[in-house]
Amino acid sequence: MGWIDSHCHIIDEAFSDDFDEIIKRIEENNIERCMIVCCYDHEYDKAIALAKKDSRFDVAVGIHPSDVKKLNDDIWNKFIEYSSNPYVKAIGEIGLDYYWDKDNKDDQKDIFIKQIEIANKLNKPILVHSRDAMQDTFDIMKKYRARGVMHCYSGSREMAKEFMKLGYYLSLGGPVTYKNANEPKEVAKIIDDDKILIETDCPYLTPVPFRGKRNEPSYVIYTGKYISELRNVDEDVFKDQLVNNYDRLFR
Ligand code: NI
Repeated sequence: MGWIDSHCHIIDEAFSDDFDEIIKRIEENNIERCMIVCCYDHEYDKAIALAKKDSRFDVAVGIHPSDVKKLNDDIWNKFIEYSSNPYVKAIGEIGLDYYWDKDNKDDQKDIFIKQIEIANKLNKPILVHSRDAMQDTFDIMKKYRARGVMHCYSGSREMAKEFMKLGYYLSLGGPVTYKNANEPKEVAKIIDDDKILIETDCPYLTPVPFRGKRNEPSYVIYTGKYISELRNVDEDVFKDQLVNNYDRLFR
């Protein structure tokens, strides 16, 4: 049994020079599931081609909250067209980001809700990005119920329990391994066995011992091992839980 990466951006130009080597290391390190998250329409075809070729890959498409200002009809229509593609297993990443944009909160909410409704119509789960906007994100996900996951969850233990009560999954990334990340480590201990996922969010958020360098899917192993120790669970048992959770949510 191998590890999973429930959220990676391998079509990002950060990987354009050594894309084949990244894929090779995913195979060599036995990363069994890999959700390729496409925030830009020019990434869609390459991601879908990869998923067609290799069953370890799935694709997600969505309009990121930080791109709401740039949204136009062409981008929206292409998103709609690809959202129903059978290799697209999730709608994301979508959500709210008040860290980068504070002056268009209503527009962000509107696009978030529209995409949740599309996901529900297609019966696909959502991948949710939330930065400096946890309460608003939660309120929307409570009102417009969907299946899905809080990607790179960085909230409190209390909030984590509230999300789980609504049936949502919580995915943890590299920051759990950072020295001063006290709350994320506590969160990692209390997520239910059937609600936890792990991810890289590469090329960002690289786990220790590669913090500061470019992240890639095969580094999810470091995050996975670290969390299995925090949760005091055998590594193979944990891998099993992760693959089962991934498949239940996405496949
Ligand atoms: Ni991401």
